[in-house]
Amino acid sequence: MAAQLYQQIREFYDASSPIWESIWGEHMHHGFYGQGGTRQVNRRDAQIELIEEFLAWGKVTQVENFVDVGCGIGGSTLYLAEKFGAKGVGITLSPVQANRATERATEQNLSNQAEFKVADALNTPFRDGEFDLVWTLESGEHMPNKRQFLQECTRILKPGGKLLMATWCHRPTDSVAGSLTPEEQKHLEEIYRVYCLPYVISLPDYGAIAPNVV
Ligand SMILES: C[S@@+](CC[C@H](N)C(=O)[O-])C[C@H]1O[C@@H](n2cnc3c(N)ncnc32)[C@H](O)[C@@H]1O
Repeated sequence: MAAQLYQQIREFYDASSPIWESIWGEHMHHGFYGQGGTRQVNRRDAQIELIEEFLAWGKVTQVENFVDVGCGIGGSTLYLAEKFGAKGVGITLSPVQANRATERATEQNLSNQAEFKVADALNTPFRDGEFDLVWTLESGEHMPNKRQFLQECTRILKPGGKLLMATWCHRPTDSVAGSLTPEEQKHLEEIYRVYCLPYVISLPDYGAIAPNVV
């Protein structure tokens, strides 16, 4: 099951990453357009602002070594390595992405600070407590086991380190709106199919998992 999903994800990013890069540039995630979402700002600046908002939200002011879990072509990895003068490693399921990210590190004179590997986020090749920041931006939605994903991210985090995760979620189902409607489920199925996602969960669902993995 996971093997088939991973093959789909790898093929999806191997084939589409050059196209994404030519349209979106190096960042493969959404942008930040102000609290109300209406600020006029170009796409790349908005993507960088999202990274900055995310860091500010997580109160991250210094980083020595980090891992970027689901790194794409290294947009965040290289940004964080340069910003903090940190060492970073990015992991992805796509060899095409890992190669392109490595090439980009060389182009930006960051190859002594950033490296990229093909590795599975649920079973990473890292030691316990290796990183002071685990960064994962719009990749958790691909994970077939959200609990194992959070457990692995936590395992490789130094005591006192930070895990920052931004991921696609569906709406909470514990409010007055109740369970997802058949129409909402159909819509989600379409998103899963197009983007090779096994399923997504809600923010309260993540909240319920989180205390049990640390
Ligand atoms: C939408 S891209 C986000 C890329 C990057 N975080 C960014 O913001 O530019 C999703 C990434 O998650 C990676 N990914 C998905 N499942 C993964 C897994 N099980 N292990 C490692 N990486 C995974 C994909 O290979 C891809 O690089």
